[in-house]
Amino acid sequence: MDQHEKTESDSGSLPEGLTLRALRPSDAEQYHALLQLPAVVDGNPHVPFETLAQTRESIGKIDPTTIAMVATVGDTLVGMAQLSPMKGRRAHAGSFSISVHDAWHGRGIGRRLMVELLDLADNWLGLRRLELNVFADNRAALALYRKFGFEIEVRQRGAVLRRGVLIDSFMMARFHEPAPLMAAPATSALKADATQSNGTQP
Ligand SMILES: CC(C)(COP(=O)(O)OP(=O)(O)OC[C@H]1O[C@@H](n2cnc3c(N)ncnc32)[C@H](O)[C@@H]1OP(=O)(O)O)[C@@H](O)C(=O)NCCC(=O)NCCS
Repeated sequence: MDQHEKTESDSGSLPEGLTLRALRPSDAEQYHALLQLPAVVDGNPHVPFETLAQTRESIGKIDPTTIAMVATVGDTLVGMAQLSPMKGRRAHAGSFSISVHDAWHGRGIGRRLMVELLDLADNWLGLRRLELNVFADNRAALALYRKFGFEIEVRQRGAVLRRGVLIDSFMMARFHEPAPLMAAPATSALKADATQSNGTQP
């Protein structure tokens, strides 16, 4: 098991054995197949009929600062998520995407991926602002993001072409408070620790 692999054993209606772990090169075929599924194509801006070679290439080009995660049940890849911190003066911000396999919708996998992404963003990377794009007719995704505190900031008219119709897209964002400093240990406790590590009794 990877160091950061997490398996759900007792999480309500979640599929038994649901595991979140880092994307591996060996996931490429299932990752590619997931990207071609109708609901995943409908909810994202990529072009259908990309080749497996293109998918492998794009996996290889994922920026090292991006966290690419997959959800699996046994050997089946049932979902994916990516969190990309930004750089320079946007280093406090990040963007992310989530997709769940069409056959596994409505079983809590999107919510589980979301919880993990937000924990990473808030408690490990210290991102203040998270943002995403979602098509205006993607009811499931909009409901999911709203539940986690995302608000619509901008409506982009006719942002993407889908089956001959120009679809609007929303930019949504959520802010998070800065991380608190740890409570400072009392000076007397530090002195006692130092004395003990020197082998002398206080
Ligand atoms: C959006 C998506 C990630 C949700 O994943 P999921 O695993 O089906 O969602 P969950 O079962 O975890 O549900 C989480 C919440 O999403 C919302 N939701 C899920 N399906 C919904 C639907 N059909 N209609 C309305 N809300 C829905 C609900 O608010 C739900 O909360 P609840 O559990 O308290 O009821 C999934 O539908 C998907 O991958 N779609 C295709 C790709 C895509 O559109 N990705 C998003 C691009 S922006």
